[in-house]
This record gives sequence, C-alpha cells and structure tokens, in this order.
Amino acid sequence: MNNTSGMIERPDAPPTQRNKWPILEILNKELTVPADILEIGSGTGQHAIFFAEKFPFIEWFTSDVNSNHAGINIWLQSYKRSNIRLPINLEIGINEENLTTNFDHVFSSNTSHIMSFNNVKKMFSLVGRLLPIGGKFYLYGPFKINDDFTSKSNKDFDDILKKQSPLMGLRDIEKLDMLANEEGMTKYKFYDMPANNYFSIWRKNEFI
Ligand SMILES: C[S@@+](CC[C@H](N)C(=O)[O-])C[C@H]1O[C@@H](n2cnc3c(N)ncnc32)[C@H](O)[C@@H]1O
Repeated sequence: MNNTSGMIERPDAPPTQRNKWPILEILNKELTVPADILEIGSGTGQHAIFFAEKFPFIEWFTSDVNSNHAGINIWLQSYKRSNIRLPINLEIGINEENLTTNFDHVFSSNTSHIMSFNNVKKMFSLVGRLLPIGGKFYLYGPFKINDDFTSKSNKDFDDILKKQSPLMGLRDIEKLDMLANEEGMTKYKFYDMPANNYFSIWRKNEFI
C-alpha cells in the first residue's frame, strides 16, 4: 500500500498479530526441527518473522502472489536473523507447477477460504508433491465441520466472503481430509483454536 509520498507502507494484519500466539503454542508441540518450511500465502509476512524468530533451526520460505511481495519485504528488512527467504512468486492455480523445490513441511494460514475450492485442491496437490514421507502440512483457519458452521460468527464471515466472491468461503474439514488423502497425506492432529478457528495437520504417508 502506497502512502501520499509514494512510499510503500508496512502492512499490518491485526488478526495475524493475535493468532500468532495460539499458533505458536501448537507449533511448539508439533513442529519437528531443523526443517525447511514453505509458507503458502504469507500475506503481510508477519507470521514469517514471528515464527522464524521463535524457531532458529528452521528456514522459513515465504511465498505469495507478486502484489504482496513488497509488503512482505518491508517486514523482512526489520528481521535480524537470516533464516527467512525472500518471497517466492507462488499463485496457486497460475504457477504452482513451477515450484519443484522440496520442503520438510508446509504451513499456511487463512488461505483455504480465500482461494477457490479448485485452487484449494491444487494447493493440496502441490503440498502432496513437495512433501517428503513424514512431512507435515499445517493449515490454520476457520473450517466447517460435517458441512456445518461451528458458530454464527463463522457463518456471518462466510456470507461476507461470498459477497466478495462466490468462489470464496469456509471449507468443510472432511473435504480437506479427502483432498489430503488423495494426495497421499493422512490427518495427523486437529486442534480447536480461539475465535472458532482450527489448526489441522496432515502427514505425508509412507505409501501412496
Ligand atoms: C487472509 S490472507 C492470510 C495471510 C496470512 N497467511 C495470514 O494468516 O495473515 C490470504 C492470503 O492468501 C493469499 N492467496 C490468495 N489466493 C492465493 C493463491 N491462489 N495462491 C497463493 N496465495 C493466495 C493472499 O494473497 C493472501 O496473502
């Protein structure tokens, strides 16, 4: 975002600043290090600098659509260590086939309700292709369970998203589990998180 002097302002996402703490609690239990981690849809980059600082033995690879890179780069300039990589131009549905690097784990927050379901499928396909056996896909966000909203606020949020685009919307966790299974991953853990959010972790199987 440009200010009146034409400078790009550092983007700020207050929900990201709030949810990083409960997400950290789970990552503290569940993240196996050392590891190279791909983040899909880094947004502002605030999760990246927070988690990379907390886990010095990981390499955190940010990614997002090109238009978000300038904002991510501003946050990265303030980062004092060297374990975060500059954003990869990764737009699921457009160029995910170009990404061929392997990562130990993949992390993504609040992306599956923003992407179309078709792109969510492509995200799972990409993750299944990139992860080694035992690698984990950590996905945070609001989901439906048994095709139902788990709170009125999630239903209201879904209505707002659908007004922005009919392709957006909260995903049913069982459908995500099916996508994961199709890509050789199995549900490993599922956590209830504050504010009607969830943290789902799938693990890449030994045999597909
Ligand atoms: C709600 S924001 C979440 C940002 C960040 N992960 C967080 O939790 O603060 C959704 C992010 O998904 C990204 N995104 C949406 N569609 C995408 C796609 N097709 N491929 C990759 N990223 C996408 C957006 O650019 C945006 O950064």
